[in-house]
Amino acid sequence: MKHFITTQDWSYDDLSALLTHASSLKRDPVQPLLKGKSVALVFFNPSLRTRTSFEIGAWQMGGHAVVLEPGAGAWEMAFGPGEVMDGSAEEHVSEAARVLSRYCDLIGVRCFPKFKDWSVDREDRVIRAFAQHATVPVINMETITHPCQELAHVLALRERFGTDDLRGKKYVLTWTYHPRPLNTAVANSAALIATRAGMDVTLLCPDERYALDERYMDHAAKNAEAAGGSFTMSHDIDAAYGGADVVYAKSWGALPFFGNWEEEKPIRDANRHFIVDERKMSMTNNGVFSHCLPARRNIKATDAVMDGPNSLIIEEAENRLHVQKALMAALVGANG
Ligand code: CP
Repeated sequence: MKHFITTQDWSYDDLSALLTHASSLKRDPVQPLLKGKSVALVFFNPSLRTRTSFEIGAWQMGGHAVVLEPGAGAWEMAFGPGEVMDGSAEEHVSEAARVLSRYCDLIGVRCFPKFKDWSVDREDRVIRAFAQHATVPVINMETITHPCQELAHVLALRERFGTDDLRGKKYVLTWTYHPRPLNTAVANSAALIATRAGMDVTLLCPDERYALDERYMDHAAKNAEAAGGSFTMSHDIDAAYGGADVVYAKSWGALPFFGNWEEEKPIRDANRHFIVDERKMSMTNNGVFSHCLPARRNIKATDAVMDGPNSLIIEEAENRLHVQKALMAALVGANG
């Protein structure tokens, strides 16, 4: 069973084929590639882009999407193997995933970390449990990585630079301030896909406590080596921005402070200057800016950067639709 849980499980050639198909679906959006098929979209967390783009994407291909929100209209779910279900959950994933597999051809899952204990969150138990019990492909709609965002991001870069070959581009993945700790998923994903694409990737963050989980630091370093690019961490804002072709912004909570966020707060508050602004962007090589959205304006990036001609935020968000259609078609064996 081929799932889409992390892009690391897919070859870059296979990911590129999805992007090529996505471009064709962007030009010619209504094709019956999911005719008679259905997808269950299981959301444990809110969404604007992911929910809309999957639902509309399935519809444009003649398929049907069902949105389920466990604990809010669908039964609250338990996940532990051998769990004694004496809490509030009425349903176990082992039944939920198998039943949904009888109704649907695909299952998408969004489940963010609990932000209490990273050693637990990093196991990605919810989507792994769905993948274990489902008999249809499972799609990661953001857990501790966000692979659909990766595809949309790379497609936006390929389109803006006019080439599928991004090798040698200088890519800055910058931490930004946010008033509360956020998921590392998009940062993990950006590090994975930018290094797969062979770019020279700098992870810019306030200090080493904001490094990503060693799994993703390690994957990024190995990806870079395999693709002929590089992966380094920097805490020097001006050096990182200098000559950059791409600036990708995201905020995330520092992993050592999971479950102890009050201690992180003063560190976070002291780094509001990581905002992406005109001065920093002026040091780049006329670089493009992007963010996965949603983004707090004038906290993560200024209005001028968000709305400027080098901003790819809306293109990247639009591309979620096209790449997910290509992905769903591939996973049901209809590649167009
Ligand atoms: N980027 C993204 O996944 O957006 P949503 O959280 O709105 O789905």
